[in-house]
Amino acid sequence: MHIPVLQDEVIEYLAPKPNQNFIDATFGSGGHTMLLLEKTAPKGKVLALDLDADALLRISIKAKQAKVQARLQMIEENFSNILRATQERKFKPVHGILLDLGLSSDQLENSGRGFTFQKSEPLDMRYSKKNPTTAEKIVNFWSKRDLEYILKEYGEEEFSKEIAEAIIQARITKEITKTNQLVDIVLKATPKWQGKKKIHPATKTFQALRMAVNQELENLKIALLKSVELLEDQGTLVVISFHSLEDKIVKNFFKDNPQLLVLTKKPVVAQDKEIEQNPRSRSAKLRAARKTI
Ligand SMILES: C[S@@+](CC[C@H](N)C(=O)[O-])C[C@H]1O[C@@H](n2cnc3c(N)ncnc32)[C@H](O)[C@@H]1O
Repeated sequence: MHIPVLQDEVIEYLAPKPNQNFIDATFGSGGHTMLLLEKTAPKGKVLALDLDADALLRISIKAKQAKVQARLQMIEENFSNILRATQERKFKPVHGILLDLGLSSDQLENSGRGFTFQKSEPLDMRYSKKNPTTAEKIVNFWSKRDLEYILKEYGEEEFSKEIAEAIIQARITKEITKTNQLVDIVLKATPKWQGKKKIHPATKTFQALRMAVNQELENLKIALLKSVELLEDQGTLVVISFHSLEDKIVKNFFKDNPQLLVLTKKPVVAQDKEIEQNPRSRSAKLRAARKTI
């Protein structure tokens, strides 16, 4: 089960009050959405977006159990389309928006889409099945230069060159279709001492591929811009990121946008107790800003 990260901090910054409206742009397993619905009762609404159709099913079951369907609208949508999707539904005013980036534990562990290197699964890695690009297509068809670029940029992988070369060599003899094949390629391409590190040698390769498949940085940049447009005066934008490049994009966007007042001078991180209960929260960084014009 996915445990929502930084729950108290999300509520502190979004400060939901009864009858206000919020957008959860990444509803995942619905943890933050449910909290927002609780705090905005009796008449506040939540518009919840996610690219993953499977997430819709999970959250609709939760909403039914909590009897909050009337105040929740769920849509299968990319958050880069947040402005159009919200306006089409005449959802306003918008008091706050949450973006909790990356993937959920449910996707990692149960989707069967190759997000994890701990199981043998097809190399898919798409949040949305409508996305024409899969991880399999990237590893089998992209050039060495492009592979090296994403491994270095998105994965911050020290051995990007070696891994890209190993992928090119491996695919000459056999198509790479499964996560375990890719893990073997990475293990052979990297020094043995990498295996003794805390993180698995394939972690960064998998992260880079996931980010490339889903165009995560590009979508984030668009969503930030559109979110500011949607917010009411004094509305709040909260972003939780798990990757240094994402956090940098959010930090600079907040700093450079004249309509925003930055509420978090430094990123807010999880307390030791939360990290103990939910190790995923270890790399979470929350930034918040208020619209002032
Ligand atoms: C970390 S999870 C969110 C968890 C959620 N806050 C909760 O409490 O359960 C991130 C979610 O964002 C979704 N996602 C990633 N990129 C997206 C995008 N561009 N548009 C919409 N949803 C996206 C993923 O499918 C995933 O379900």
